[in-house]
Amino acid sequence: MTVPAAAGLLRTLPGEPGTTPDATRAGTPAASRLGTMAVQMAPSILSADFARLADEAAAVATVADWLHVDVMDYHFVPNLTIGLPVVESLLKHTELPLDCHLMISEPDRWAAGYAEAGARNVTVHAEALQAPVRTLREIRAAGARAGLAVNPATPVEPYEDLLPEFDMLLLMTIEPGFGGQSFLDVVLPKLRRARALLQRHGTSVWLQVDGGVGEDTIERCAEAGADVFVAGTAVYGADNPAAAVEALRRHAEHATARAPWSH
Ligand code: DX5
Ligand code: ZN
Repeated sequence: MTVPAAAGLLRTLPGEPGTTPDATRAGTPAASRLGTMAVQMAPSILSADFARLADEAAAVATVADWLHVDVMDYHFVPNLTIGLPVVESLLKHTELPLDCHLMISEPDRWAAGYAEAGARNVTVHAEALQAPVRTLREIRAAGARAGLAVNPATPVEPYEDLLPEFDMLLLMTIEPGFGGQSFLDVVLPKLRRARALLQRHGTSVWLQVDGGVGEDTIERCAEAGADVFVAGTAVYGADNPAAAVEALRRHAEHATARAPWSH
């Protein structure tokens, strides 16, 4: 089975400007359209130079599927990064769809604003949500894909009934808050269970991993079931970020092609 190099192709799939969220979800999922599970790469600007974000986005523009943007508020996680004004500025300077990962204590209050601003995906943490269904629906209603994130110790099974309400499940493979941490292998069994759960439901929900993903860990993630890969240090800590994305994608595609879950 061949796994296509999908960067340019996938960029047109996750909801084009002007399409409704329903139309986006009704579109043929990348995986079935391509006849296999497709790898998507999302470099995280957390490890980029915050004073040169437009340049840092441009450095991966031709090879990435998404630009992952970590929003932290000093409350949900012990770190402070960027918020909506920076996301709005970034949107003017990159064609890459923004994958906003909200590590904030009040996602119910703020998430829809990121979608309204133009983020193509907005992910909110299960641990912080007060009204998950309402907030996920607000994200979709504002035109974005909706993501649900869980920390390493949070199980996914309680969210099984909510599967129709989100488009991507993010399994954190570190405790959120900082880049450059070591990948947590303890999350791999949950990743396998999550992939099995998605397959049992026959859903096209994407399965993202975030944290410690690099050349030495990405194959384990792909083998276990991930199809969307966030990488910060492994991309922006490299001399050539674009080459790093391409190398990571090759590793992930190789492991995906071998993984039983992808056939
Ligand atoms: C951390 C963030 C990650 C971070 C990952 O909480 O959610 O997106 O950028 O960084 P690396 O890839 O360096 O672990
Ligand atoms: Zn993140």
